[in-house]
Amino acid sequence: MSESLILETAGATSTLCFGSASALLGQLIAGREYIAISDQNVASLYPEYFDAQRSIILPPGEAAKTLQQVEMAYERLYALGCDRSTLLLGVGGGTVSDFTGFVAATYLRGLSCGFVPTTLLAQLDAAVGGKNGINLGTAKNMIGTIRQPEFVIIDSHFLASLPALEFTSGLGELLKYALLEGGTLFEATQEYLQAAAGRSAAGLAEDAVAANRLSALIRAAVAVKVRIVGNDEFERGSRKFLNLGHTLGHAIELLEGIPHGLAVIKGLLFAINFSERYAGLDTVAAARCRQLLTASGQDLQLRADPEKVAGLLLHDKKMGRNKLDFICLSAVGRPVIRPTAPEEILDLLQRSR
Ligand SMILES: NC(=O)c1ccc[n+]([C@@H]2O[C@H](COP(=O)([O-])OP(=O)(O)OC[C@H]3O[C@@H](n4cnc5c(N)ncnc54)[C@H](O)[C@@H]3O)[C@@H](O)[C@H]2O)c1
Repeated sequence: MSESLILETAGATSTLCFGSASALLGQLIAGREYIAISDQNVASLYPEYFDAQRSIILPPGEAAKTLQQVEMAYERLYALGCDRSTLLLGVGGGTVSDFTGFVAATYLRGLSCGFVPTTLLAQLDAAVGGKNGINLGTAKNMIGTIRQPEFVIIDSHFLASLPALEFTSGLGELLKYALLEGGTLFEATQEYLQAAAGRSAAGLAEDAVAANRLSALIRAAVAVKVRIVGNDEFERGSRKFLNLGHTLGHAIELLEGIPHGLAVIKGLLFAINFSERYAGLDTVAAARCRQLLTASGQDLQLRADPEKVAGLLLHDKKMGRNKLDFICLSAVGRPVIRPTAPEEILDLLQRSR
């Protein structure tokens, strides 16, 4: 029997299952009409999940999350005669789950969908919580809804084929949950990173002990997200905590041209420095947090121009009344929202150079 978590929201119940995707899919979609959506990389690595006649295969990466691809998918669903009973199954990274969730939310005013996330970032974050989105030109995730998938199947065996950079990128989200939750998740994440230091993503995936440890961390992190989303699905309050490291991370991602998760790690470092100065995070705790980030082995140095970072924050879609809801930690495992002017961020960015 595989493990599962239930995410209850006002309008939906979403089941998050951990275990073998092929076995779980057999149970969850047995006898149902479905269309699989994926990208070219995942479809060629895992052809057993796709029937050419009833699949929509997207270009990999952000190129999938466009209005043109959405229109193509609507036309394909129409041509295939899909109706309200058709389930859309997104098998892939966060771009695929964002795309599938959006098409499912809008076609025929709403179809059911399920996800099989295949990247670490999607398993920990993108496929969980019901946010979906597509881009408007270069503006990321400008169009989207919040609508829960019927199920998410988290099977860590997909991580074995993940390119090293994509694996490391997912670590950014894991670090975020460790800081948000503290306690055993923080400690277990630190132990995992220390044991993983210097080892390749492929080597880690082949090592049963390391793979089991990572699976346990993913389950624990997903449980944190499920709890937070269950309390505040529409991000009126505590769901904003999930933006820890992301406000700056998004700007760094754009300006430094580095993968999302690596930019998030730099954003987390800034959030810790900022928390120490403005949110009461004590020096010892801040040092522990910095040690955790250092254990990821990633570049923590901000290379973007602070003025440009602050300039981009002014356009953050989550900004209101000239202030951002900046997520800080008042202690490890104790996030707080601090309304913050971009100038305060600029000031600290310049001081820490
Ligand atoms: N909805 C949310 O709550 C949420 C949260 C975080 C991020 N996101 C979105 O997620 C997206 C990023 O997701 P991502 O990092 O998974 O990127 P991605 O979907 O682009 O996948 C990264 C790359 O890995 C490949 N890939 C996927 N699974 C693989 C596997 N098992 N083996 C080998 N290659 C594989 C993909 O083809 C792609 O080239 C962004 O668009 C971001 O906006 C959404």
